[in-house]
Amino acid sequence: MAIFVTLMQQFNIYNKHGFHIIIGMKIEKVFIASDHGGYDLKKAVVDWLKKEKITFEDLGPYNNDCSVDYPDFAEKVCSSIQQQGDCCGILICGSGLGVSMAANKMKGIRAALCSETLSAELSRLHNNANVLCLGGRLIGNEMAQNIILTFLNTPFDGGRHLRRINKIHMLEGK
Ligand code: RB5
Repeated sequence: MAIFVTLMQQFNIYNKHGFHIIIGMKIEKVFIASDHGGYDLKKAVVDWLKKEKITFEDLGPYNNDCSVDYPDFAEKVCSSIQQQGDCCGILICGSGLGVSMAANKMKGIRAALCSETLSAELSRLHNNANVLCLGGRLIGNEMAQNIILTFLNTPFDGGRHLRRINKIHMLEGK
C-alpha cells in the first residue's frame, strides 16, 4: 500500500522562529516507538506496516522485558522527524496521553492523540499533525490500522489552518 499525499508540491513556510512548516508533502517514512504499555500494539502495527509495505523504522523498545519511560521514546521519534522532512511518527503508550504530552513539547511537532478515524482525519486536514499517538490499552488492532491509514492518506487543507498552526508554534517555549 503506497502512502500518498500526491500531486502536492512541497512548500516550506517559515514562521517567526525560523521553523519551517511543510504544507503539502509526500510521507516517505514512518518512525514508530512505544513504551511498555504500548508495546503489544506497536508489535501488531509493525507487523501490519510490513505487510502493507509501508516504509517505517522501529525506534523501540524491541522487547517488553522491563518498563521504560515514554518521554525517551517520544524524543527518539520526534527528533527523527525534526531531522527529516518527509516523514511522520506513530507513538504508542498505554493511554496515548503521555507520549502525546511529551511529543508536543518538541519544536515543530504537532502530535494528535486519536481513538477513532474522524479525529485522525481532522488532525491532518486542520492541524497538519505529524505524529499520531495511540493508546495501546484502549484501542484494538483493527481500529489502530484504520486510524493509521486515515492519518497517512489525508492531506493538510492549508489556508486559514496554516495561520493557526503558525500560532501554535509561536507558543513554543512560552
Ligand atoms: C505506563 O504504565 C503508562 O503510564 C503509560 O504507558 C502511559 O499510559 C502514560 O501516559
